[in-house]
Amino acid sequence: MKVLATRRYPGPAFDELADVEVRALAELDSARPDIEALVVANEPVPLDLLPGLRLVANYSVGYDRLGIEELAHRGVAMSNTPGVLSAATADLAFALILATRRRVVEGDADVRAGKWTGKWADGFVAEELTGSTLGIVGLGRIGQAVARRAQGFELRVLYTQRTPVETGLGVYRELDGLLAQSDIVSIHTPLTPETHGLIDARRLALLRDGACLVNTARSQIVDEAALVAELVSGRLRAGLDVFAHEPNVPEELLRLQNVVLTPHLGSATRQTREAMTRIVVDNILAFERGDPLLTPVTV
Ligand code: DGY
Repeated sequence: MKVLATRRYPGPAFDELADVEVRALAELDSARPDIEALVVANEPVPLDLLPGLRLVANYSVGYDRLGIEELAHRGVAMSNTPGVLSAATADLAFALILATRRRVVEGDADVRAGKWTGKWADGFVAEELTGSTLGIVGLGRIGQAVARRAQGFELRVLYTQRTPVETGLGVYRELDGLLAQSDIVSIHTPLTPETHGLIDARRLALLRDGACLVNTARSQIVDEAALVAELVSGRLRAGLDVFAHEPNVPEELLRLQNVVLTPHLGSATRQTREAMTRIVVDNILAFERGDPLLTPVTV
């Protein structure tokens, strides 16, 4: 089966693909009816250029940009990479929680700028993490991994989820109640038509003064313009790994001290990225054999 991969995905599993061409989608200038399988990282699939496509093996757990409705309509099978990136993404959420709450990046910038003169930095006194309330929006695999880490930091955990789940990892709240009662809110729900704009200006206003919003999921779950306005006002703090128009970050955020910004690196550990390639390749090999996909995406 002829496979087109939009880059050389990391790890040894990639070499198991017998007939693979590495080429960015932007470089496709004419139709390629010979391509039967496509490996992309949550990128829009140009179906008009790939009329023979039978499988999209998505190198990402999120598939909000693939165009799944149209792919399903055309009978194209799809897979993603759930599970293997939960720990890495939960670790990053915690890195952002800690960095944002304890003003690590601001402190680092001060030291580098030679502004550290006294014995202690009195200007960086922050709120204690222990005993704070963490609200988790979406208690799926990644949300649960965040909740488990929260236990070690002695946080009180609230969660919200379309259907409450009995995990013992947190106490269920409706979204509005969770926002009003949390010191830190971390988002771990997938981007779907239902979650698009879920945390709008009205809901952002429910957050406590000084609360910290962490987003390692998808920017579009939050009204980015409303969040920027709250951050510019200085009322909230945020740790953001995702943005509405990546790789562009709203200009205003670049000047703010109350925000920590990272370049969508939730899954960026060697182990996770290689495990993602393993799943992609295993799905392609299963499809070639006529076996069910290991991690299918269904509409
Ligand atoms: C995912 O898998 O959805 C991540 O956002 C990619 O790092």
